[in-house]
Amino acid sequence: MSKLDLRGISKHYGEAVAVDKIDLSIEEGEFVSLLGPSGCGKTTTLRMIAGFIRPTAGTISMEDRVLSSAQTSLPPERRDMSMIFQSYAIWPNMTVAQNVGFGLKLRKLPKPEIDRQVTEILQITRMGHLADRYPAELSGGQQQRVALARAIVVRPGVLLLDEPLSNLDANLREEMRFEIRRL
Ligand SMILES: Nc1ncnc2c1ncn2[C@@H]1O[C@H](COP(=O)(O)OP(=O)(O)O)[C@@H](O)[C@H]1O
Ligand SMILES: [Mg+2]
Repeated sequence: MSKLDLRGISKHYGEAVAVDKIDLSIEEGEFVSLLGPSGCGKTTTLRMIAGFIRPTAGTISMEDRVLSSAQTSLPPERRDMSMIFQSYAIWPNMTVAQNVGFGLKLRKLPKPEIDRQVTEILQITRMGHLADRYPAELSGGQQQRVALARAIVVRPGVLLLDEPLSNLDANLREEMRFEIRRL
């Protein structure tokens, strides 16, 4: 039994085939990258796994429970997954700590518990000193780290990253590549 299983996953938009019959099994603890030229269907595949798009054919299961098929689709918020989008929007009107704690607030955790978990994640992502800053006061790499921290603080079973390094310069790319693996 794999953690995540894609079986014959396809997505058609009218005549256009965005994703054509993908089979993929991912085990617990595995780190998998999808490689391919622009337009080959990477984002569409991630969006189907996250539950934002329903496949035209095939099934997506997690620990043997069907999440997506042409007939059914569990909504994203009930999938135990976090996705960081290609344009990793973080909220400009919230501090780093507020951005990172937002998912826990939505889950209605008590304030002291939110504070404790946010502090812990900011330490892990080496951003403790940035807690009270606003996004406009951060570098691109730091904003990217906030997006990562916000995605992992809810301890998702699956973390989906759509080109997480594309907005960074060469040096930061190197650093974040290492950082993502470490996290
Ligand atoms: N909503 C849509 N309607 C029609 N075609 C789409 C839509 N979304 C994506 N596509 C097409 O599906 C293909 C795969 O897109 P995408 O998954 O974004 O590729 P990638 O992320 O690998 O660059 C592309 O040809 C794209 O134009
Ligand atoms: Mg894409």
